[in-house]
Amino acid sequence: MLFNKLVIPLVSAAGQASAYYLPSYFHEVTGQQLPLFVGDGSLRATEHSCPIDLPLSCTNTSEVGDSCCFEYPGGVLLQTQFWDYYPPVGPDDMFTLHGLWPDLCNGQYEQFCDDSSNIDSAQAVLESFGETELLEKMNRVWKNFNGHDDDLWTHEFNKHGTCMSTIKSSCYDQSTYKKNQNVVDFYKKTVEIFETLPTAKWLAENGIVPSEEQTYTKQQISDTLNARFGQPVYFKCNRFNALQEVWYFHHLQGSILTGDFVPIPAMMNSGCPETGIKLLPKNFKPPTPTDPHQPGPKPTGDGMRGFLKPKGQPGCIISTGRWYSSGTCAGFTLVKAPFGGYNMKSSKGWCGINSDGDLECSRVMKAMQFAYDKEDGYLTYGGTYRWSADDVPKAWKQVPIRPGYGGTVEFKLHFEAQ
Ligand SMILES: *[C@@H]1O[C@H](CO)[C@@H](O)[C@H](O)[C@H]1NC(C)=O
Repeated sequence: MLFNKLVIPLVSAAGQASAYYLPSYFHEVTGQQLPLFVGDGSLRATEHSCPIDLPLSCTNTSEVGDSCCFEYPGGVLLQTQFWDYYPPVGPDDMFTLHGLWPDLCNGQYEQFCDDSSNIDSAQAVLESFGETELLEKMNRVWKNFNGHDDDLWTHEFNKHGTCMSTIKSSCYDQSTYKKNQNVVDFYKKTVEIFETLPTAKWLAENGIVPSEEQTYTKQQISDTLNARFGQPVYFKCNRFNALQEVWYFHHLQGSILTGDFVPIPAMMNSGCPETGIKLLPKNFKPPTPTDPHQPGPKPTGDGMRGFLKPKGQPGCIISTGRWYSSGTCAGFTLVKAPFGGYNMKSSKGWCGINSDGDLECSRVMKAMQFAYDKEDGYLTYGGTYRWSADDVPKAWKQVPIRPGYGGTVEFKLHFEAQ
């Protein structure tokens, strides 16, 4: 604990103690000035200190003012891990790290929250901070199944890191803050949390080891992981009933950097079958790669073309991303996104959600991630099936639509493949 360390010297670049900082906060209920922290005791002068009695993220019953100590709105922190065996990715005896994601309290999520904080290369940032040890670790365990690792790392910060309120650069002591320190801290913390969740080791300790023949029950896997994590864990199988992903859910008390990650039950149930689940070895080779019943390389190509229609409503989505009830439907193309899901484009350009929260396809939009379920044909964004608009378009009016609830008209968005 840090109670004996109330004065933290701020050391300037020249190594001189330049100022003294008394970390404390004003407790609104008791009216006291309290010098309290949470964290592991290694608080640096650049880190924002937080009171210890803040509510857990997503459990507050009133407003919490300090957005640097209270993760909001993405108060559910998910640590996601992958097991890619064909082609094999990462060490033979480890699930690889995919990311640390801030989900909303209701299970939906935001993405790409602050373009002005985007980075071009995680590797370049980490190198500029001399983080060679961290980079070595990341090279080993934080793997892109589909290209360069740096592309995945960079994507993870731009997509998810920018949505975390407690590691914004403004949360740092500005007199010592060096540009992108928060980016470095995002990667450090993600690796640190990942290292506390050794999925493959936990499974192996309970006899669930990689094997081409051996199968396991859903119960065996969930009992094993839940016992170690302390809460129900979410896991996902691929279409060959092979274990593929494991997600650990947390609430957070305090900030991403110095707060406590508290395990919570997964917010989804596993769709894996009750029995016959495999953990395929990473050197597993399908007998014939073209056999449709064996896992093969991920399909590539020019994508799927189709029309977008609000289910049960008149009209179509037109090429700008707006809803129109007269005229012909515009063609949209779904292209497999590099890190899962789909990017979507129309003749106007990539589609995404603009700063008003509306669907927009244009030359200025970046390709954002949508999900498309081939079985039911619905296009989803940010974990929700629901889309809404303020009104059904009349005559020549074009109406913006947005993911989630909130409009007077709600519908699912059907992608009619052509
Ligand atoms: C929880 O805190 C956030 C951030 O201050 C606030 O926007 C939200 O309304 C709070 N929730 C409740 C139930 O008061």
